[in-house]
Amino acid sequence: MYQIDIMTLFPDTMGDMVNDSILGRAQDRDIIRVDCHQIRDYTLNKQKQVDDYPYGGGHGAVMQADPLYQCWKHLCDRAGYPVHTIYMSPAGRTFCQAEAKRLNADYDHLILVCGHYEGIDERFIEECVDEELSLGDFVLTGGEIPALAVADAVCRLVPGVLPDPECYTEESHWNGMLEYPQYSRPEIWHDRAVPSILLSGHHAKIAKWRRKQAILRTRTRRPDLYAKLDLSSREDQKLLAELESETKPQT
Ligand SMILES: C[S@@+](CC[C@H](N)C(=O)[O-])C[C@H]1O[C@@H](n2cnc3c(N)ncnc32)[C@H](O)[C@@H]1O
Repeated sequence: MYQIDIMTLFPDTMGDMVNDSILGRAQDRDIIRVDCHQIRDYTLNKQKQVDDYPYGGGHGAVMQADPLYQCWKHLCDRAGYPVHTIYMSPAGRTFCQAEAKRLNADYDHLILVCGHYEGIDERFIEECVDEELSLGDFVLTGGEIPALAVADAVCRLVPGVLPDPECYTEESHWNGMLEYPQYSRPEIWHDRAVPSILLSGHHAKIAKWRRKQAILRTRTRRPDLYAKLDLSSREDQKLLAELESETKPQT
């Protein structure tokens, strides 16, 4: 079983997300377990205060080290080992599919720490955090959305969570490409028809069409990813030649 413990000031809101849909069903089947823990429950003061003013002055409040530490220690003591701990932070390495793959392959238990206010006391990070991950180059009010994103991306790679590994190996970013366009019923919607090849039942031709669309999409939308692709196989070279002739202006 893959276990993720999320340390947060908003466990109920987060619980609704992780207990529903695909992750909820995977938890019901004991394939994964995602638990959200209220950091306030680990304060040693009556007011359950978890934050205080920043030393040196400045706006807002900083989450204090000790409530975070008590919560983290409880989770590690319960596990019986130092659980790999990630602080969600705009100053961390940017999270991506390769990071999700790594976290899935290298660990079976994670603690995700959600900051709030101006962030958390650096001494907790120094003592307890193994790595910092960012959702992107922007600042959110809290680490809850990033933690949910990491938990979701990692958990859907756990065997059995999705019906088949192809559910994720054919998706965007698995092999550095964007996915081909998808269609469902009806065949015609608002005068827009589904590409006829997808109705042909010819699996090899459909696979070729999808590969070609994925190449085209990646080239058009993400030239940075396209530049890193290995398209040297004979099949891909053929698809590239086809794309070239299709996009050449008619003379
Ligand atoms: C308002 S932010 C603090 C930002 C911090 N003062 C700074 O400038 O780096 C509050 C919390 O939201 C979370 N957070 C905000 N943006 C994030 C991002 N892009 N990725 C991951 N976590 C983020 C972090 O847990 C952070 O402690």
